[in-house]
Amino acid sequence: MSACRALRGNALLRAAAVARPIASLESRRTFTATPRAMSSFYKGWEPEGPSVKTQIPGPKAQAAIADLDTVFDTRSLNMLTDYSKSVGNYIADPDGNVLLDVYAQIASIPLGYNNPTLRAAARSNEMINGIINRPALGNFPPAEWAEVLKSGILKVAPKGLNQVFTAMAGSDANETAYKAAFMWRRQRERGGASVEFTEEEMNSAMNNQSPGASQNLSILSFKTGFHGRLFGSLSTTRSKPIHKLDIPAFDWPQATFPQLKYPLDQHVEENAAIERAALEEVEKLITTYHIPPCAVVVEPIQSEGGDNHATPAFFRGLREITRKHGVLLIVDEVQTGVGATGRFWAHDHWDLPHPPDMVTFSKKAQTAGYYFGNPELRPNKPYRQFNTWMGDPARALLFRAIIDEIEKLDLVKHTARVGDYLFGKLEALAEKYPGQFNNLRGKGQGTFIAFDNPRRDEFLVKAKTLGVNIGGSGQSAVRLRPMLIFEEKHADLLVDVLEKIVKSW
Ligand SMILES: Cc1ncc(COP(=O)(O)O)c(C=O)c1O
Repeated sequence: MSACRALRGNALLRAAAVARPIASLESRRTFTATPRAMSSFYKGWEPEGPSVKTQIPGPKAQAAIADLDTVFDTRSLNMLTDYSKSVGNYIADPDGNVLLDVYAQIASIPLGYNNPTLRAAARSNEMINGIINRPALGNFPPAEWAEVLKSGILKVAPKGLNQVFTAMAGSDANETAYKAAFMWRRQRERGGASVEFTEEEMNSAMNNQSPGASQNLSILSFKTGFHGRLFGSLSTTRSKPIHKLDIPAFDWPQATFPQLKYPLDQHVEENAAIERAALEEVEKLITTYHIPPCAVVVEPIQSEGGDNHATPAFFRGLREITRKHGVLLIVDEVQTGVGATGRFWAHDHWDLPHPPDMVTFSKKAQTAGYYFGNPELRPNKPYRQFNTWMGDPARALLFRAIIDEIEKLDLVKHTARVGDYLFGKLEALAEKYPGQFNNLRGKGQGTFIAFDNPRRDEFLVKAKTLGVNIGGSGQSAVRLRPMLIFEEKHADLLVDVLEKIVKSW
């Protein structure tokens, strides 16, 4: 594809970019090197506010994108970034534009760009050792690996889960969790961990046939859910056709995720009925689907699929049904995990009487994997759940530094507080501009907030021209995914820009 076509391909994001920022941003436009604003967390760190100097992409970015497109597909490019100049909540581009970033690399930056504590962690000998002597963790784990896990990933293990399988990315975390579920279920059916595989199982496995390959078991997921794009995880992803077209998929069941009506307090009965119906559908699929599920996978808040929420009662019901039928519950916390909902794990909001069987994580953790507690979820033989790297010690060390900083700065509580503040401001906006901030959701869920706008794509483009980088999800949601160092002053700035967008129409 030519560079010209690539640039046209990104036209939507760029078309509305204006050469001049609006007047009210003029006063904020000169800060690129100084002045630095006081951050409540790190002194003299962040810019005072956004600075939009050119259209986005500006001339330098356009030239660089054209060059990049000769060797790398740029059609999904959102913003060419200068990471060396991005600081805290602010993302910079090669033309000197600096935007408040409430998208944060698809919800995956926890502590801000160029965080000083993480930069220091990156310079440690331990980290250098992890990067340049990267181990094949299953075969040659470092002597200190247990300590790294216990003082990092496992320090924040969800209640009731005390073990981890480390992985590379969110899809990989889910994919390996599914494999653990299949092996667990087949092991039970076989009669336990010590029962040997039969000749027939081993031969049929080599031909991709049952009984060796588990073609008679499935994973149940929810409509509009997203769990990744590897083969197995993609079969459970139900967000958009473009994610799935042309890829072989398993014939696995999907249940309706509750489509709650807003505002919640005005639809209590109706929403309870919607959730009951969804749970009945899950139970029916578990008991009647022609390929029975051995696990149900669910996001606490369906993120890519449009920021769809359900109540704690729904998830408690799901836990009850899965336990009743001996089906595992996998909670996919890839996007919701690590503090953004005002609890470290979003499922902490549910008050579950029994923990999930597995919890998958990635994104803000920077590393990935799944937590579990039941020792039977370790396959009966080595090398059944295995790959070369099985994660990455450098990324595990980074997560440990992130956890320490979250604890030191009390960032989960902070996010809960700032989220409440932001939600209150958005409620006021929704009232003032009917039809523009529809189905406002995420109350009491930290900064994990979204709303629908009828002109969502234009909305996001316009936000950039006014100095804010925001993402969308599903068909019409504007999703807010600030970092954990997002403060009230950033919320004020964001709300100011959101109002300007809808006022300009
Ligand atoms: C809930 C959820 N699960 C899984 C994934 C897949 O993660 P990755 O893109 O790291 O493979 C994502 C990515 O957005 C996600 O939001």
